Amino acid sequence: MTYAVAQAAAILATALFIFALYWMNDPKTARHAVVAGVTGMLVAVLATWFQPEIVHHAWIVLAIVAGFVVGVPLSLVPLTAVPQRTALSHAFGGLAAGLVGTAEYVLGLTEHPAQLTAFRTGAIVAEVILGFLTFTGSLMAAGKLQEVKWIPQRPVTYPGQNVVNIGVLALAVALGALVVMHPTASWSGQAFYGIVGLAVLFGVLLIIPIGGADMPTVISILNSYAGLSAVAMGFVLNNKLLVTAGALDGSSGLILSIIMCRAMNRSFTNVLFGAFGTVQKVAISGEQKAWKQETVEGAAQLLEQANLVVVIPGYGMAVAQAQHKVRELYDQLTKRGITVKFAIHPVAGRMPGHMNVLLAEANIPYTALVEMEEINPDMPQCDVALVIGANDVVNPAARYAKGSPIYGMPIIDADKAKTVLAIKRSKNPGFAGIDNELYVQDNTWMLFGDAKAVIGDLVKQLAGGTGLH
Ligand code: TAP
Repeated sequence: MTYAVAQAAAILATALFIFALYWMNDPKTARHAVVAGVTGMLVAVLATWFQPEIVHHAWIVLAIVAGFVVGVPLSLVPLTAVPQRTALSHAFGGLAAGLVGTAEYVLGLTEHPAQLTAFRTGAIVAEVILGFLTFTGSLMAAGKLQEVKWIPQRPVTYPGQNVVNIGVLALAVALGALVVMHPTASWSGQAFYGIVGLAVLFGVLLIIPIGGADMPTVISILNSYAGLSAVAMGFVLNNKLLVTAGALDGSSGLILSIIMCRAMNRSFTNVLFGAFGTVQKVAISGEQKAWKQETVEGAAQLLEQANLVVVIPGYGMAVAQAQHKVRELYDQLTKRGITVKFAIHPVAGRMPGHMNVLLAEANIPYTALVEMEEINPDMPQCDVALVIGANDVVNPAARYAKGSPIYGMPIIDADKAKTVLAIKRSKNPGFAGIDNELYVQDNTWMLFGDAKAVIGDLVKQLAGGTGLH
């Protein structure tokens, strides 16, 4: 393949990656985004494969087969397991970058010492540190999310932890600087493996103080590290496509982490070093108010009498896989002429777009999905706010309770609705571990139970009822 064709393929693949990211902005174009991303990757693999330097085609075929053997089962995991699946993909990306960097350094050391210029060795060191820390960090993150028994879910902290962590990273960087200055010295091989070991260790140390529930944000940060290691690999291999694809990956991961942190009103440092999840249960209101329960019949009546129902889904809807029942409820209500809107909080659930994906899976029209900022002004006119397994994203404490872990997080104003119906299984708190006064508000009625079962009962009640409105 000529140089010109390879360059054209690189430009085409880069353009497809940019379109893939752009189209991901909207559910209507998200499927095109997937096709563009897959096509871009195919163009990139084929363009690389047909380079004249490639002589061992059997190895490439073997790698593709291995990729399929791992990739196909990974693609079949349920939606709730997508965050840990994504973490595993980053782990593979980080491992690949780390191994390529190691191979390039060893080849340089043993066969082409002149190629170990300061710039190239610097790029190799950066690639290896980022690659290996992404590898172990992502494996730990996936393990925490999958609730693997031997990895503690709660943040593991000890005095001086940040000093130890930063010390390990600083040592790796210092060794890296020595290797860059003396790439072919008699000791530089050992120093290089020392860097690899420290990066592997740093990945583990970085993740243990972070609670399982903060992992989606951390995965997004690790995504950007994997992208940066690919950029470094692009410089090492003199491959422009790797540089551009890695930069896109790195920057989109970083932007996504910033969006997630903002939506949770948390800082980066708080996510990485805050040991979120160790927070003790905080009582929000001084007086203990009683929880009031509603029957399915009563709730169905309230819904039937409404003009505007705002459904507020959260993590519990995902756990219960209640989205299809929610669609049936939507049908029952809309056929009575009731307006039904879905209020989407940017961090409802456990991954970006979690609610959008679930509701789209159940074929709920995109037009019924309304972002938090747009729905909030309508909440005082809302007759029934139906909270389905959402907790923190509707907790009014976020507005005023300084010192609460969610203080300052924008919320959906469910408490301003005329009536609130809330579905959850128990009186347990949500992700942030704090009480929610919404549930004991005067106009709130609880429907205790699994979201799928409760919504199913509501649908039965509405389907069997008179349907008069
Ligand atoms: P949460 O605050 O975690 O509350 C979920 C609620 O669902 C719980 O109160 C739980 O109560 C209920 N639930 C669980 N299983 C259920 C089931 N089968 N049926 C019915 N209810 C069930 O969820 P949220 O309001 O969606 O808030 C998301 C939280 O995650 C925020 O604090 C956010 O900052 C954090 N977070 C989000 C992301 C992204 S990107 N989405 C990333 C990191 C962190 P019971 O146990 O009583 O049923």
